[in-house]
Amino acid sequence: MTLSEYLAARQRQVDAALDSWVPSETTPPQTIHRAMRYSLFAGGKRIRPILCIAAAEAVRDDPAGVENAACALELVHTYSLIHDDLPALDNDDLRRGRPTSHKVFGEAIAILAGDSLLTLAFQVLSEMNGTSAECRIRLCRELATAAGTVGGMIAGQVHDLEGEGKHPTPELLEQIHRAKTGALLRASIRMGAIYAGAGEEQLEALSRFGDHIGLAFQIVDDLLDVEQTSEVLGKTAGKDAAQRKITFPAVYGIERSHRMAEAELECAHRMLEPFGSRARRLHELADFMVHRRA
Ligand code: IPE
Ligand code: IPE
Ligand code: MG
Ligand code: MG
Ligand code: MG
Repeated sequence: MTLSEYLAARQRQVDAALDSWVPSETTPPQTIHRAMRYSLFAGGKRIRPILCIAAAEAVRDDPAGVENAACALELVHTYSLIHDDLPALDNDDLRRGRPTSHKVFGEAIAILAGDSLLTLAFQVLSEMNGTSAECRIRLCRELATAAGTVGGMIAGQVHDLEGEGKHPTPELLEQIHRAKTGALLRASIRMGAIYAGAGEEQLEALSRFGDHIGLAFQIVDDLLDVEQTSEVLGKTAGKDAAQRKITFPAVYGIERSHRMAEAELECAHRMLEPFGSRARRLHELADFMVHRRA
């Protein structure tokens, strides 16, 4: 199977699982379920859930049911995008090629749609079959920590917002990026590995892979904001400079940022060495994440 066939198959698997967890649009109150589905099924790349599944596959063959843990990651990610786009945060009109949630449903419902996706993520982790109660608790803790306020996604979002207009330093930059994006990507990989019963050493190696690929991913997000068009990105290009965000291109310039993303990618590949050919998909996903055009 080529990588694009693998991505398409995994996307279908994740979408089917998401569809089964999210209440239908006809379930009352209909507005909130329409808003949840509007953002969720708008064509995201599904990087986090696919990393989760691929990490589980690197640990053992056919980790049945891991797509449910993967769904929890996409639910948290999509919530974070809806809130990131709100007028009080990045104030964006375009996301995943569509008008943002608050543009379509209004701010109140957009806030609630984000809240409800976040809540549903933990419902999925607590209700899903195929793994022990102990494992489900571990997965809840991983996701909560990664999305949280101490080195997690919210910490990063706060640093990102408070950094607007400040002098961009390398220290502040790394603090923002590792937390706002890196933490959830790292957790995606760790959750797949934990689901599949990884040992401590395997988990450690995969965590380090996650650190490197997480940072590389946000460097590329920053670069795409400068180098790509809104049409291709499906979100507004050029916003970071307009909002005076602390980004890799702002601190290091474009050329050096590209080289830094490649260096992180190389480190990421190295962390997978203990897995040999079992990590083939993770290697391919890492390349895809850094060399993507959107
Ligand atoms: C965008 O993430 C937001 C960041 C954390 C950089 P993705 O590039 O994974 O967005 P989707 O899910 O494909 O829309
Ligand atoms: C968002 O970072 C990270 C989140 C936790 C949502 P950005 O603000 O750079 O994401 P985009 O560029 O709007 O997708
Ligand atoms: Mg933001
Ligand atoms: Mg944003
Ligand atoms: Mg960005």
